[in-house]
Amino acid sequence: MNQESENKKKVVVSGIRSTGNLHLGNYFGALNKFVKLQDEYDCRYFIADLHALTTNPDPTQLHASVKDILAEYVAAGLDPEKNIIYVQSDIPEISELYLLMNMHVGIGELMRTASFKDKARKALGITSDSEEIEKEIIGNQTNNQRVNAGLLTYPTLMAVDILIHHADFVPVGKDQEQHLELTRRFARRFNSFYKTDYFGEPVNFNFGTAGALKVPGLDGSGKMGKSEGNCIYLIDDEKTLRKKVMRAVTDEGPKEPNQTPTQPVENLFTLMELVSEPEVVKHYRDSYADCSIRYGDMKKQLAEDMLKVTLPIRQRILDIKDNDEYLSKMVKNGAERAREHASKTLREVREIMGIRKI
Ligand code: TYM
Repeated sequence: MNQESENKKKVVVSGIRSTGNLHLGNYFGALNKFVKLQDEYDCRYFIADLHALTTNPDPTQLHASVKDILAEYVAAGLDPEKNIIYVQSDIPEISELYLLMNMHVGIGELMRTASFKDKARKALGITSDSEEIEKEIIGNQTNNQRVNAGLLTYPTLMAVDILIHHADFVPVGKDQEQHLELTRRFARRFNSFYKTDYFGEPVNFNFGTAGALKVPGLDGSGKMGKSEGNCIYLIDDEKTLRKKVMRAVTDEGPKEPNQTPTQPVENLFTLMELVSEPEVVKHYRDSYADCSIRYGDMKKQLAEDMLKVTLPIRQRILDIKDNDEYLSKMVKNGAERAREHASKTLREVREIMGIRKI
């Protein structure tokens, strides 16, 4: 693609944290969308290793995880020829813009962010509301390291990832929508402070569906997530995947015709809608409605259909993941191309903010 045609296309930016292997939530909420967008848009996808640092990972694991996810990106169908694929920390302009942008971000709005409150609660081992979190963070000396400043300013860094590319679209799952909303707010604030229209307001990309996706876990409760221990990973082998699905939480079965499914069962239907043919989903929905459903059969079918999605990807991951030369060439090239865009934005922002050569 030459520079001119690249410029005309709308810009798509998104990333995934390097905190472990990718699961079906990451796949359907994000990665699968990245792949679908790559032919039509100017796409820039990265590994958010600086964001991963906010939860203080082991350095060896962090590095391994960056490589794993790169391999998973390519194995899922992302083409380094069509997209800019890079590692966030390879772009120093991001860190500088993060510092500059923080001058226009309020501590209060960061402390009110749902993901910060969740992580702070977990780190502090409390279940209480905002006020108590605040008291606990400010008042208790022993909490200095547990809730770090990087965690608080996580949304600033994410906004910078997006704004440094002047992104139009940011394909993410439902859990990231609040961060996207903050990105738009920071962009507006910057524009209004400096009386400019420099930053646009990026939006999610949902392919015309009602809203962003939240892929549920197998434990009957909330979303599929690495820290919830309820995931199907793209790298899971056949036996592991089947075992996990057969153990998924259900209930004692419908008690009367046309009853609304309980949450754990509805979750299985949601997963099925992602991987199975519509007539298969209909068959099980109908058999739930007339109380003839057998969860064992439904789970077997679900595992089968999940494997159709994951096994070819798993095979490609195994083929690519130890090819260091290929991966390192890919991100070196990606970083060079990403830095061209990033350094232009940083130069312009410095100028707007009054950081000029004497
Ligand atoms: P992360 O690494 O937690 O997740 C990566 C992507 O996967 C989506 N996702 C899900 N979608 C639906 N259902 C689920 N159960 C599920 N679990 C995860 C997430 O919504 C996300 O799209 N802050 C981001 C990484 C990031 C970023 C960015 C994203 C950093 N900078 C700039 C976009 C643009 C994160 O932690 O995602």
